[in-house]
Amino acid sequence: MKTLGIETSCDETAIAIYDSENGIIGESVHSQMQIHAEYGGVVPELASRDHCSKIVNVLHDALGDIKLNSIDQIAYTSGPGLLGALLIGESFAQGLSTALNIPLISVNHLEGHLMSPMMEFDELDMPFICLLVSGGHSMIVDVKEKGDYEILGQSQDDAVGEAFDKVAKMLDLQYPGGPHIENLAKKGKSNTFDFPRPMINSNDLNMSLSGLKTSVLYTIQKIENMDDQIKCDIAASFQQAVVDVLIAKIKKAVDQTGRSDVIIAGGVAANQFLREEFKKLENQLNINVYYPHMKYCGDNAAMIAFVGSKMLSKVNDHSSKVRARWPLDELE
Ligand code: KG4
Ligand code: ZN
Repeated sequence: MKTLGIETSCDETAIAIYDSENGIIGESVHSQMQIHAEYGGVVPELASRDHCSKIVNVLHDALGDIKLNSIDQIAYTSGPGLLGALLIGESFAQGLSTALNIPLISVNHLEGHLMSPMMEFDELDMPFICLLVSGGHSMIVDVKEKGDYEILGQSQDDAVGEAFDKVAKMLDLQYPGGPHIENLAKKGKSNTFDFPRPMINSNDLNMSLSGLKTSVLYTIQKIENMDDQIKCDIAASFQQAVVDVLIAKIKKAVDQTGRSDVIIAGGVAANQFLREEFKKLENQLNINVYYPHMKYCGDNAAMIAFVGSKMLSKVNDHSSKVRARWPLDELE
């Protein structure tokens, strides 16, 4: 069975085809990064317009030689995300499902992220713990079974990716800042600045990034002669503080739930330093740590097609399902 997935929740226009026998057989992602970079963040109207003008080309690119009439069902992201952007994906999905007379499935974007490593690792099965760290979300989820997700903790303020982006902006780096911070950090010393690790010892699994970010800001403001090496040291010290907090919370989550598989997903999971540090937990805690393939850390449609393929095909009623906010523990 072939499921065509559509993702337009933020600044990537993506389409992929998941075949239940052969896995992902076609995919294409168009990133709007260049459009938003000069504004330092995603501009919703520009995002919607660009989805609109690129989505047909992305479809052709994803399909390649695959015939459109061989698709069995359409899955699309209906939230959470930017409403205007989601509506472009939804109306495109509705058009395709109507023209092809095939079922339409609405998928939660976060569920896509947390199931993404399952596309690749056959041995990985639920239950597991997921640390989902992206530009808009930072949470620890107990993934019990398909559709049954308990949020064990989350950021009380900035998302982890958002904190990376804001610190990058303070250092005059381009949006999105995560990869730039990671690159600078490679040349920096992580113990140069002793940034705070907010809530690291709190009894719960919640996190807070805003105090850390503000501490970085005050540190930068006090430096009179900023140079490249100091920037690298700030990046490395900041990145270390973030990873320390995330590791402490995951240790607590493993202890609390007794789960033996942990997956790290979302855009920030592309960070190699974070990957290496979490890998060290495998021996320490006797657990397995999984990451999505690098190309499936950020937003993509493969994960949406994959989740759709696991859902029962429903005949669509063509009502609009999009929502800006759609918590993982409120899937119906
Ligand atoms: O999952 P994603 O592509 O989009 C959202 O759903 O938010 O995540 C994007 C976020 C951005 O904040 C970006 O700076 C961050 O992921 N990111 C990184 C890295 N690559 C992307 N953060 C740290 N290190 C990276 N290598
Ligand atoms: Zn995402």
